[in-house]
Amino acid sequence: MSRPPVVLAVCLGNICRSPTAEAALREAAEAAGMEVTIRSAGTGGWHVGHPPDERMRRAAAEDGLHLSGTADRVTPAELAEADLVLAMDRSNLADLQELARQAGVDARIHLYREFDPEAGDGDLDVPDPYYGGPDGFAEVVDMVRRTAPEVLARLRAGTAP
Ligand code: 4NP
Repeated sequence: MSRPPVVLAVCLGNICRSPTAEAALREAAEAAGMEVTIRSAGTGGWHVGHPPDERMRRAAAEDGLHLSGTADRVTPAELAEADLVLAMDRSNLADLQELARQAGVDARIHLYREFDPEAGDGDLDVPDPYYGGPDGFAEVVDMVRRTAPEVLARLRAGTAP
């Protein structure tokens, strides 16, 4: 039996960027009337079981986006199950590719901002806000929110990379 596609957003700690992407993707899927399973995880395990970072939650809430869930560390099985794995930055991408390679898993892993309609010629990272000021968190919200509808649209159209 076919199941809805699974999209997995991954950052380092799973307490800032990927929970925000998860919420934005869920919101976009609802708006588009699409049935999609959205998950998020981190490549590191330091924050497993923790809720999203308070600063990230506040910045998202200021923009009307509600973050939920607790942090998880990504597993090879999750990579294998996901139809699309979206890394928040190039470091996360490299770590995920290595994890998949070591586990012998065939995963479809891309940078989240490959879908960003406003991505210019610069790098495609969602910058890690953890050690920075409040502007970094607001920037994450902007980036992931404007990009989420494009992820869903291309997934639906079958034109995702
Ligand atoms: P995230 O941000 O990868 O967007 O969740 C970070 C969270 C925690 C740490 C680094 C980045 N940390 O070093 O604990």
